[in-house]
Amino acid sequence: MDCFVTGGAGFIGSHLVDALVARGDQVTVVDDLSTGRLVNLDSALAAGAKLVELDIRDAAALAALTLERKPETIFHLAAQIDVRKSLEDPAFDAAVNVGGTANVLEAARGAGSGRIVFVSTGGAIYGEGEGQQLPLDEATAIAPLSAYGQSKYAAEGYLALYERLYGLSTIALRLGNVYGPRQDPLGEAGVIAIFCGLLRSGGRPTIFGDGTQTRDYLYVGDVVAAALAAAGSETTGAVNLGTGREASVLELAETLGRLGSADGFEPEFAPPRAGEVQRISLDAGRAEAELGWRPTTSLEDGLRLTLDAI
Ligand SMILES: NC(=O)c1ccc[n+]([C@@H]2O[C@H](COP(=O)([O-])OP(=O)(O)OC[C@H]3O[C@@H](n4cnc5c(N)ncnc54)[C@H](O)[C@@H]3O)[C@@H](O)[C@H]2O)c1
Repeated sequence: MDCFVTGGAGFIGSHLVDALVARGDQVTVVDDLSTGRLVNLDSALAAGAKLVELDIRDAAALAALTLERKPETIFHLAAQIDVRKSLEDPAFDAAVNVGGTANVLEAARGAGSGRIVFVSTGGAIYGEGEGQQLPLDEATAIAPLSAYGQSKYAAEGYLALYERLYGLSTIALRLGNVYGPRQDPLGEAGVIAIFCGLLRSGGRPTIFGDGTQTRDYLYVGDVVAAALAAAGSETTGAVNLGTGREASVLELAETLGRLGSADGFEPEFAPPRAGEVQRISLDAGRAEAELGWRPTTSLEDGLRLTLDAI
């Protein structure tokens, strides 16, 4: 299959590219390398994947490339992912996440692409989970607490629009907090990347607040499996991807300290950070029923794989 992976030089995208290349797909990575790294693509490029350095805000260049290569499937992961930056510069965040997505959809329409798999967020779109019935399913009211969450939700709206107007087949995967090898500390589950780095360098983890705040941590390999299943399905609309299990920051620090056999990996505590939710987890029942997907990597196994890769 011919496919595009926007954001394919990034953390999640590069793992997806590796899996696509491994199954024999012709892969074009579309990435401006703003946060993505060439080194993430070393083996994929050696195995025949192509990289086109392009900013998805450049509608004309993206449309021309898409028309030339006519990918059957577009995995759209390129995004401004920094939650704090999204609040400092919401217009830039929207330009990449909303405008860029509109450009991807318009290019797909022009080239007759069959399927768009958009990587959205479940961690930043529903707002505060405390006080709600956890885990949250897709019917939960949308209440983002950042411009990033809002721009991802707006982009989902454009997917639905292109389905209605032009019959494009699209799916939006609402991910929990993804972690694993190659992760940059800036992203939604950056805490794991930071803690792993500190563990290796002999530092101590800083916990903002009391550490009881929870997230639904999802191993990157499980996300890749879901993206492949989504591309091969006809399911449309929003689909949560998560474990349904809440893990606290205290649990992360404790588990990593144990796995790394680190004496003194005792957390230091700092004041809580504004705008962070206290609790969240995602119900992935729809993904299981319609994509035949469920996560297979336990938090402990995933943390071990992440540590081993550093
Ligand atoms: N990491 C998580 O926990 C998480 C959770 C939910 C959703 N997501 C989504 O998954 C996707 C991938 O995130 P990631 O964690 O791998 O982050 P990442 O920063 O590693 O990947 C994003 C990629 O997009 C590229 N990019 C950014 N702006 C671009 C532009 N204007 N034009 C072309 N390329 C551009 C970057 O260079 C990078 O390679 C994003 O859409 C993000 O919103 C991530």
